[in-house]
Amino acid sequence: MSSQTQRSILHKFKGILFSTLSSEELLNSLDSFDAREDDVFLVSYPKSGTHWVAEVIENIPNARIALTSPIELGDISKLEELNVYSERRVIPTHLGYDMLPVSVKQKQCKIIYIVRNPKDIAVSLFHYYRDNPNLPCIETWAEFLELFLRGDVVYGSWFDHVLSWEKHKNANILILFFEEMKKDFSESLKKITTFLGINMNDSEINKIARKTTFLEMKNNAVKENCDPNHTICALTSNRNLVFRKGVVGDWINYFTSKQKRVFDEVFAERMKQSELARVLSESS
Ligand code: A3P
Repeated sequence: MSSQTQRSILHKFKGILFSTLSSEELLNSLDSFDAREDDVFLVSYPKSGTHWVAEVIENIPNARIALTSPIELGDISKLEELNVYSERRVIPTHLGYDMLPVSVKQKQCKIIYIVRNPKDIAVSLFHYYRDNPNLPCIETWAEFLELFLRGDVVYGSWFDHVLSWEKHKNANILILFFEEMKKDFSESLKKITTFLGINMNDSEINKIARKTTFLEMKNNAVKENCDPNHTICALTSNRNLVFRKGVVGDWINYFTSKQKRVFDEVFAERMKQSELARVLSESS
């Protein structure tokens, strides 16, 4: 792909790379978004398991919620479009804390923040870059990994993203770990429903567990048409691009021992004050 084409599908806003599917005007006007007190934001760095958690939330019986498309996807008309929902809105986004609309912070809306091992995210995002026509194609894994470590990828540095959210951790933010969801799905689901103030019995929990397995979701994605109203990630509305392997630890098949060492050094340096990093190291 020529650098001209690459330039036209990505643009920088406040030093961070975005897809041109997120217009500069929209990004500039996010602070005029009028949050409602019962809004829930589903926040993650790309490839952390956003589609999975969105599907889980959509399947909660009697939740009376409307899952919207990402707040940063589209043009200036987006903020008005979000006004049409009468139900409680669940709004996905990959934005870092600093770019989240100011009214969301003022009204202390509930936020679910998903965290995943960054080595697995790097591998997942590498494939997304290759398969998703809305992202440039980076030829080699080694080249991509360098970009990832430098934060020269969509939504910027994983380290900055996670640290920005951790810094503002409070009772209105539920932190979910991809690895813990894989290990004990019911426990993670209970955390979500308790956080949202919804009661569920064991049979309902088991039903959601069955409906949101990786295979079930992958098969449904193949069957579903690309419904732009069911877009979770601002980088594509094609769900077929999302369900790749759905496992923990696939990074081991990509990182050389030198790449692992370099990554671990950067991780240790950038995350030395981070409590989340400790949980991540234990769970993955
Ligand atoms: P892999 O590329 O490692 O397979 P996001 O939704 O934030 O874009 O994250 C996509 C990642 O979550 C992909 O990771 C995808 O396979 C994984 N994923 C999606 N649904 C899943 C599920 N139900 N169970 C486990 N992993 C899932």
